[in-house]
Amino acid sequence: MKKIVFATNNAHKLQELRQMLGDRYEILGLADIGCHEDIPETADNIEGNAQMKARYVKEHYGYDCFSDDTGLEIDALGGEPGVHSARYAGPGHDSEANIDKVLKKLDGVGMSERTARFRTAIALLQGDEMHLFEGQVEGLILTERHGTGGFGYDSIFQPVEGAGSTFAQMSPQDKNSISHRGRAVARLVAYLNGHQ
Ligand code: IMP
Repeated sequence: MKKIVFATNNAHKLQELRQMLGDRYEILGLADIGCHEDIPETADNIEGNAQMKARYVKEHYGYDCFSDDTGLEIDALGGEPGVHSARYAGPGHDSEANIDKVLKKLDGVGMSERTARFRTAIALLQGDEMHLFEGQVEGLILTERHGTGGFGYDSIFQPVEGAGSTFAQMSPQDKNSISHRGRAVARLVAYLNGHQ
């Protein structure tokens, strides 16, 4: 079985990929290869960060690798928080503070101007070949939180295809079927299944 590293420590993301790829690939997480350091993510866009992480793993550990990076782009904020989504309100990765900052900045902005999208970029480095896969979902930023599921900005993001629910009000299966990451992962999996 071919080994490939998914540059993440997120057990949920690893599990999901292992299920989708069946037994064709052995998916290793960062802990599995003894990578415990913080991989630099200093590019100014999500594509750059995803590629930077994949290259780092290849250079330091020698494995083929894929890596994902996601950003929430809010049109009324000129595309912010974008590549800074995880640390928008500061270095602490505090989702509640990030949401508060977004809601404050959008105070007084009408519903028709609260358009936004999540975008995920996945960079796959096989040998010396880099491939990029993208997924995105359009939606609106609500004026307050709705729902308790999910993570990050889910409680204020209402996808256009979501029948009026935020991501935080949807089951994980329903969210994955239309989400930015679900779509990018589906493209990666289709590619890997066709190129073994
Ligand atoms: P990452 O690249 O997957 O780590 O995502 C960066 C940041 O974007 C996260 O820390 C979250 O704040 C936000 N984010 C990513 N995916 C989602 C999602 O599916 N729902 C809500 N927020 C997300």
